[in-house]
Order: sequence, then structure tokens, then C-alpha cells
Amino acid sequence: MKIIFHATGGNPDHWLHSLNLALPQHDIRVWHEDDTALADYAIVWKPPAAMLAGRSDLKGIFNLGAGVDAILQLGDALPAGVPVIRLDDAGMGIQMAEYVSHAVLRYFRRFDRYDQLRDAQQWRFLKPFEKSDFSVGVLGLGVLGQRIVDAIAHFGFPLHGWSRTQKHISGVTCYAGTDGLDAFLQASRVLVCILPLTEDTQGILHRENLQKLPKGAYLINVARGAHVVEEDLLALVREEHIAGATLDVFQQEPLPAGHAFWSEPRISITPHIAALTLRDESARQIADKIQALQQGQAISGIVDASRGY
Ligand code: NAP
Ligand code: GLV
Repeated sequence: MKIIFHATGGNPDHWLHSLNLALPQHDIRVWHEDDTALADYAIVWKPPAAMLAGRSDLKGIFNLGAGVDAILQLGDALPAGVPVIRLDDAGMGIQMAEYVSHAVLRYFRRFDRYDQLRDAQQWRFLKPFEKSDFSVGVLGLGVLGQRIVDAIAHFGFPLHGWSRTQKHISGVTCYAGTDGLDAFLQASRVLVCILPLTEDTQGILHRENLQKLPKGAYLINVARGAHVVEEDLLALVREEHIAGATLDVFQQEPLPAGHAFWSEPRISITPHIAALTLRDESARQIADKIQALQQGQAISGIVDASRGY
């Protein structure tokens, strides 16, 4: 089997090491601009259009991440009929659960405020929040959203979830579609965004929607920066409608120097690390899926381009 590889921002040597271990009998090569030789599969992260355009020889394009927004934006440059396959968890679920649990508990136990008091050298008691007033709403109940919900459930917070199609998850009040969005937002004291970035979800966290959250709400965005209208979020934080935000993703990454988020103490920033792609786990998952495809078996994670995820 011949496999072409390209990962923008990744170290190809490290990847080739993991891929060769997982796919020892296959010929894996790093793709270069003038490489038009036949290939059976492509393994990519943010590939250039030239890598995939016209490549009807491919049987599958494996995306080295859960989010496929960067690959689907290639549009007509993607070869027709060739499946795009996203990573299913591959070690990202536990990382998301850790990140979001930490952020929720930090706000619930008021450690964000205690850090400020510590900086001001003030020994002061803050009234604890009631757990029953601290409902957590998860936007997106897919592979990672459900993993987050499972983790938060252990702490006993009231849980809400929103998805495109109706879900039934024990212990979670589930809302679906545009009709369910307002009630979901009104019920969410902490809003966690783990949606895919699509035409329908781009800019979904704008002023009007963020204002539907209860006063004193918190936002945790671990999906894509383009879900949030950044100036609207900043205004609502300054107006104290939103008490704090933990952001892992931004409209422009790296977040530019001088961006207003850097100087807003109620906004916590991490550099798109909520759930990293783990090389060995991902290579093993891709190897298993290639084997299944070669044997004519069904696999999970095939992207529906018409939905955008
Ligand atoms: P997924 O399994 O595809 O789940 C997506 C969820 O969003 C599904 O529940 C889906 O609803 C829902 N959804 C999609 N469009 C919707 C809409 N218009 N209205 C309501 N709900 C909608 O994706 P995942 O694996 O959980 O990953 C989610 C995203 O996380 C990725 O796309 C990526 O952008 C981001 N991510 C970020 C990091 C990081 O480090 N920050 C790491 C990994 C992934 P249905 O269930 O009804 O289809
Ligand atoms: C990372 O952001 C991913 O989509 O896997």
C-alpha cells in the first residue's frame, strides 16, 4: 500500500516513525509539491490543495484531528468520492475531559477569584456557589462532547447538552436543533463549546446568543475560535454578564500580540492544547481503519461533507 503524508506544523520524522511502526508493510512517503506518483491513502493535517487535487487514485484521506474544517474548506480541490476520515477520540477524549473538568471546577470553587485575591495579598472568604445553580451546558454531543459530559457528571452538576439531532443521555437534559438552542442557553450557567466548525456553527456565540446565558455565566471554548464573535464576548465580559471565559481556540492563532483578550484578567488563554493529537494512538487507529477498508469492512469516522463534519 502506498501512503502519502503531510502535516502542516507537525514534525514529519516523528510522524513517520509512529506510522511506520503501526503500518510496517506499507510504503509511507512525505508528500512534496511535485509528487504525483500513485498513492492508495493520504494522511494529512491542514494539507495544501495541490496535494489532493485530482487524486482519484486515493481510497481514503485520513485527517490527523477530530475537526475537518481545514480539509473541507479545500472544496472542489478534494477528489470526488474519496472518503475523508476524522480521528475518533484517539486519546483526545480524556484530554478534553481533563481540560473542561479543570475549568468548570476552577470557576465553581472560585479559584479564579482566589488567584486575584492572592495577587492582591488579601485573605478573604468568598461565598461558595450552590451546585444546583451551577448547571453545565455542552454544545455538541459527539465523540468529545459525550466524553466531557461523562466526566462532569461525576461531580454532580446539573447537565444540559445540545446537538443537531435529538440525543437521550441518562442524567443529561438534551436539546436539539435551532428550536432547542434558546432553552439550552438559558439553562447553562457554564457553557462548554465542543461543536465542529461548519456553516451553521460559525459565529454561533454572538452577543444575542451569549446574552441568553444567565448573568454571571462562564464560557469554555475548546472547539474552534470562529464559533465566537470575539468582540461580543469581550463586551459581555466587561459588562459582567459573563463572569469569565476559558479559551483554547481563537479566530487567529497564534493569538496576536496586543489582542484585547491578553489584557482581560477574566479571560484565560491556552494555545490550542485542550486535546492534542497523540501520534502513536492516532497511527494505530489509522492502521486499523486501513486494514478494515482493505477487507471491505465498514469504519467509523467517515465525514459527511454535506453536514460539514
Ligand atoms: P463530532 O463527534 O463530529 O460531534 C459533533 C457534535 O456537534 C455532534 O453532537 C453534532 O450533532 C453537533 N453539531 C454539529 N453541528 C451542529 C449544529 N448545527 N447544531 C447543533 N449541534 C451540532 O465531533 P467531536 O469529535 O466531538 O469534535 C468536535 C470538535 O472539537 C472538532 O470538530 C474540533 O473542531 C474540536 N476539537 C478541538 C480540539 C482542541 O484541542 N481544542 C481538539 C479536538 C477537537 P449530532 O450528534 O446530532 O450529529
Ligand atoms: C484539533 O483541533 C482537532 O480538531 O483534532
